Amino acid sequence: MNTQIQPLSVFEKCRQFTKAAEIKAAGLYPYFKPISESEDTVVTIEGKPRIMLGSNNYLGLTHHPKVLEAAQKALHVYGSGCTGSRFLNGTLDLHERLEAELAEFLGKEACLVFTTGYQANLGAVSALVGRDDVVYLDKLDHACIVDGAKMSYGETERFNHGDLKQLERKLQRHDSAKGALIAVDGVYSMEGTLADLPNLVPLAKQYGAGLMVDDAHALGVIGPNGTGTSAHYGLTDEVDMITGTFSKSLASIGGYVAASANVIDFLRHHSRPLIFTASLPPSNTAGVLAALEVLRTDSERRETLWANTKRLQDGMRGLGFDIGNTQTPIVPVLIGSIEATFLAWRRLFDAGVFTNPVTAPAVPASQSRLRTSVMATHTFDQIDFAVEQFARIGRELGLI
Ligand SMILES: Cc1ncc(COP(=O)(O)O)c(C=O)c1O
Repeated sequence: MNTQIQPLSVFEKCRQFTKAAEIKAAGLYPYFKPISESEDTVVTIEGKPRIMLGSNNYLGLTHHPKVLEAAQKALHVYGSGCTGSRFLNGTLDLHERLEAELAEFLGKEACLVFTTGYQANLGAVSALVGRDDVVYLDKLDHACIVDGAKMSYGETERFNHGDLKQLERKLQRHDSAKGALIAVDGVYSMEGTLADLPNLVPLAKQYGAGLMVDDAHALGVIGPNGTGTSAHYGLTDEVDMITGTFSKSLASIGGYVAASANVIDFLRHHSRPLIFTASLPPSNTAGVLAALEVLRTDSERRETLWANTKRLQDGMRGLGFDIGNTQTPIVPVLIGSIEATFLAWRRLFDAGVFTNPVTAPAVPASQSRLRTSVMATHTFDQIDFAVEQFARIGRELGLI
């Protein structure tokens, strides 16, 4: 007789996972909605047009003729993919051009392009934080920074969001034989608020810590010419490393790390998420180069984005919604419980407005919210329509 105890199957948890199915059965499941057509600010989902009030396409460049033309041209010159890593057969002259242009745009010595923004942060943190180092993370840092810390061999310390006093207490206890890196988001993606770089920079200096800022939501939006949060505060030279993504203002996919030449050279030879994955496809790289050119030369687009931002923020605040202290085109509308958030999402979806419901673990369950965001290409009519729907549904559900 076999008396050996069988271990529990790793798949058992999948059988027990019924939450998503229950929400689907209630008709409230908001995720993985397939878009069948996109005309910039209007998308077709389930056969109906909806105003896209939940994208990160801040400058509305996904449909810009110059971006589309550049991407199409690159397809013909280089083919559809690189079929290999940057390290081996997957580096294009386009990648190197993009790195040079980004380094100059951001005011850093050098830059390295990754296949996603997630991988850029994962690759930077995991490579730099070694066995004898400590990385200090704001508790609201994006998941890819947290995952980079997990993947590293070093220690991780987390401080409460924006609590520089707590960070300082932790730095006071730092073992000086170890290296230190502070990693923060330039713009917090669920709040729309900026990192307090004017106070973080001197703190990092005082304790000899490196400072890294993830500017995923700031590029193209904040700072002179859209150069980001460090430039916004005039602190580009004081921030050691700036990371970011092409999946938001630059209307594509991919990510980057910008820093001193020796940091970039180290990452080129040590960053596993760079070396062990295929590189950014030619059409995306060319599209990003074209989008960067538009970003640099068309300042009106950013002005329109800020006018639209004000319109949406004023509209929501005017109705009595709590949108926190957002300073950016990210406008989080606090709803409260997960159930109320899903219900409000569904009613807005049915009314033709697409938003992003955000719940635990991204934010505490009791602070569930509808994350909305504006684009430069939204019209005032579209924003006003969305605000009217929020007003009607907010009243129906007793939210305002
Ligand atoms: C703050 C932040 N960092 C990094 C990323 C990752 O970017 P990507 O979509 O290019 O992987 C995101 C995207 O959600 C983000 O919001």
